[in-house]
Amino acid sequence: MTKISLLKNQPSREEVLPYVWLLPERNDCFSSLQISVINSSLTRLRDKNTDVHTFRYHIGNLTDYLLQAILKPKVKKVKVTTPLEKRAEGIVLEAPVAIFFINRAGLTMGLSAARFLPYGTPIGEFDIHRDEKTLEPVLVGYNIPPEVSGRKILILDPMNATGGSIECAYKVIDKEYRQKRKQKFLGVYIANIISAPFGVAEVKKTIPEAEIYTVALDDYLTKPGETKFPPGYIVPGLGDAGDRQFGPGRSELFYGAKKMLSVFVNFQSSDIIKSK
Ligand code: PRP
Ligand code: URA
Repeated sequence: MTKISLLKNQPSREEVLPYVWLLPERNDCFSSLQISVINSSLTRLRDKNTDVHTFRYHIGNLTDYLLQAILKPKVKKVKVTTPLEKRAEGIVLEAPVAIFFINRAGLTMGLSAARFLPYGTPIGEFDIHRDEKTLEPVLVGYNIPPEVSGRKILILDPMNATGGSIECAYKVIDKEYRQKRKQKFLGVYIANIISAPFGVAEVKKTIPEAEIYTVALDDYLTKPGETKFPPGYIVPGLGDAGDRQFGPGRSELFYGAKKMLSVFVNFQSSDIIKSK
């Protein structure tokens, strides 16, 4: 059965609530002011009048909050020497994690994580898009780091609609690290901005070990002919997360952002695991 044939029977929000960590409810992690900032960023993303640059800014902002809630990074005191040859005391964040983001829409989250996390954090990218007719994921390729032992696995994608893209990325991670290379990691974490109940239920079925963090849990996925959007879009949602960040298609903006991320991660290095 394809994902689209399952849209007739979608679980309710209430049914899947026990499977997600909702960011605006984490007053154990965030102050009420921070929760207002999270909710206002989400509102800017939902607003159809928000431009691509502002949209990417708020994706980045929410990614920082997601990372804080998921990783709860520890800090280590360090001393550094400034260009003025003076010593300064400071801290570095410690978070044993490997980051995997899904292109196109997850790229801004990947960039944000690369900026936030300790230098040298392994980062991998997946090129996955949905087949509009079946809603099944199509894996175009991947570039992933060789070593993730002893780290949390964190998959970043702003939207979890049918769960297909996340499941597809996870299957590669499981095959490449656990099965082929016998590497052990410290659990699987999913970070989304908006999730649909359908996607949460599907991900939980395929990846029972997954801990799912999301800023919002929306109502349902569109059925064929319901709106001007194709079926499988999250309601109320924010539209097409890739287009809203980069404009339609694989634009110059998208390739520019991809190039910027390669400043942090050498996707060309010879020990990277690449899809054939
Ligand atoms: C979007 C989004 C997710 C996927 C979610 O990607 O970024 O990756 O859909 O849907 P799913 O849970 O049903 O798999 P899309 O395929 O539209 O590609 P894009 O990121 O290039 O826009
Ligand atoms: N992908 C998106 O970008 N938006 C949705 O609502 C569903 C999938």
